[in-house]
This record gives sequence, C-alpha cells and structure tokens, in this order.
Amino acid sequence: MRAIVCSSYGAPESLRIEDLPSTPLKKGEIRVAVVAAAANFPDVLLIAGDYQIKVPPPFVPGSEFAGVITEVSSDVDGRLIGTRVTGTGLIGAFAEEIVVRADKVSSIADGVDERIAAAFGVAHRTAYHSLRSVARVGSGDRLIVLGAGGGVGLAAVQLGVLLGAEVTAVASSSDKLAVAQRYGAAHLINHRESDVRTALRAVLPDGADAVIDPVGGKLSEPALRSLARGGRFVTIGYASGEIPAIPLNLVLVKGIHIAGFQFQDVPPEEFTRNESELTDLLVKQRVVPHVGASYALHDTAKALRLVADGHAVGKVLIEINRGEST
Ligand SMILES: NC(=O)c1ccc[n+]([C@@H]2O[C@H](COP(=O)([O-])OP(=O)(O)OC[C@H]3O[C@@H](n4cnc5c(N)ncnc54)[C@H](OP(=O)(O)O)[C@@H]3O)[C@@H](O)[C@H]2O)c1
Repeated sequence: MRAIVCSSYGAPESLRIEDLPSTPLKKGEIRVAVVAAAANFPDVLLIAGDYQIKVPPPFVPGSEFAGVITEVSSDVDGRLIGTRVTGTGLIGAFAEEIVVRADKVSSIADGVDERIAAAFGVAHRTAYHSLRSVARVGSGDRLIVLGAGGGVGLAAVQLGVLLGAEVTAVASSSDKLAVAQRYGAAHLINHRESDVRTALRAVLPDGADAVIDPVGGKLSEPALRSLARGGRFVTIGYASGEIPAIPLNLVLVKGIHIAGFQFQDVPPEEFTRNESELTDLLVKQRVVPHVGASYALHDTAKALRLVADGHAVGKVLIEINRGEST
C-alpha cells in the first residue's frame, strides 16, 4: 500500500511516498481503506519532532481520517466490514490504509460523505465543545475568534453564528476574512493591517463576552483586553508558535475567566450533549466544514506546507485516490 513516510524529523518537504507492506491485525484491530485524511497543525509539529509527544522515525504521519473498514481481527464482529468510519489518532492516516483499534473509530452518519467526515473531526469538535462548555456562548453573546480563517477558528465562526453569537473574526488576510464573513461573521479585523485593540474597541465598544484563541502570540492580550466584565477567554492552542504572557491584573480588574480547552476536561454529560448536537448539525447540513484545499496523497507535503505557513483556509484534505491536487 502507498503511504507517506517520515524517515527523519524535518520539514514537510522531507516526506516521501513509499510502497509499504500491509500491517497484520492484532486483537481488537480493524483495517480501514482511507478515503480522505485531514492535514492538521500537530502533524507538522510531529514530523518536525517538535510535538509534545515524540514518535521515533520512520513512521507514517496523519492524525485524522475517514474511510471504509476492509478487514477485522478474529475477535471483532465481521459484520463491520464495509462500514464507513472516521477516526483520530496520532499517526498513520496519510496512507491507503490504516490499522486502528475498533473502539477508536465512529461510524459516519448516512448522507455524510467521507471528505466531509474527515474535515469535520477535530476542528469542529474542538470549537463546539469550547464554545458550549468552556466559553458558554449563547444567543446574543459577542464572540471574538482569533485565527478565524484556520481549522478551529473558522469552525468557531460557523458554530458561534449558529449558537446565535455576534462574531468578530480576526485573521491575517482578506481572503480568510471573506470566508469568515460568508459563514456569518459580523465584524472582520485584519490584524496585519490594523491595530487589533483599536479595531476591537471600534466594533465592540461595550466589550466582548468571550474569546476563542487557537493562535496565541501577540493577538491574545489585545483580545483579552477587549472582554467586558466577567468575560470568558478560552486558550486552545499556540499556532503562532508563541505562548503569550498575560498580565494577571487584567484578569483581576475585570473579573475575567481564563480557561484552557482539552477534550478530557469537558464534563461527561455535557460531552455527550455537545457531540449529539454537533452530529445533528452535520447531518442536517446546518454546518458543513469549509475545505479550502484538497491534495492527492503524493502531494501531502504541499498540504502540510500550507498548514505550516498559516495559509490554510478552513480544512486541508488529502484525498487518497484522487489523481491530481486542486
Ligand atoms: N486544545 C485542543 O484540544 C486543540 C484541538 C485542536 C487544535 N488545537 C491547536 O489549535 C491550534 C490551531 O489549530 P488549527 O487546526 O486551527 O490550525 P490552522 O488551521 O493551521 O490555523 C491556525 C491559525 O493560526 C494563525 N497563525 C499565526 N501564526 C501562525 C504560524 N506561524 N503558523 C501557522 N498558523 C499561524 C493563522 O491565522 P492568521 O490568519 O491569524 O495568521 C492560522 O489560520 C494548533 O496549535 C492546534 O494544535 C488544540
């Protein structure tokens, strides 16, 4: 089977496509023919050896996929063969097939195609759990989304709008902001062209209720300063490569709540509710992930380069059996 191989830590361009033997199944495992995989920021960090978890090369990168079960181990129900599933993990998805534990995949709802399923996993789930259970965004709330053209950010724009929030999108280009506007963002701020604090004050004179921050760096503090009394700031990631240091007096003076987002911290009953609401939104096509670019397997490095440079708009896909990239 064809797979992308990271044979030593480095840039996306150091990845190679190889023909690898199929991995035999162990107990509890299934084989999935991958239809589409998503390129995510942690994939870039992982192949560079900069991720919080280190995988020793050689390995096949790729952490999010959708496809069809083609084989199951002897202790797994054989009727699962042919089921369309999606899954997330650490590695293995940039390949024609991936071997995973059967209990680590979820079936794809009828009517949702594999490309959409691959693009929907991590970003939309992160955004929705953050909005619902950490930022506690509801109708009429004023929400600031940083990195609003990226995977998590654009999902937060889409889902924030669906939750009834007035969304202010902050991003680095007019292309990204145009997409955020298409999904309902009320205010658009290009942080390369304007002072973020001044621009936020102009569009939100009474302050914001919540901030979703997957970027960190220089944008976090002006966004936090733009919160109204009692506002909620959710730190999700540091795509800028810079972890901001926040003066705590700002938090004290305005009674601001800062919280980090991690899936395991969402209370179980809220987790179940959020997942079910999100699936419903997907199945009813009230939210459809924005696929900004799509690549053939042999062009995986190009997909990861787009993500590494912060130029991705929404999600970037690898479509395993497509001939050429678009
Ligand atoms: N806590 C969690 O459970 C969780 C879950 C998912 C993701 N994350 C983390 O959240 C972060 C964002 O993920 P994502 O999928 O939204 O990533 P993404 O699609 O690559 O978007 C990240 C955004 O960050 C901005 N950015 C600024 N400097 C950048 C740089 N040097 N390189 C790349 N991007 C840069 C860009 O927005 P501008 O337009 O402003 O430049 C870009 O659109 C990542 O750090 C990821 O690991 C955390």
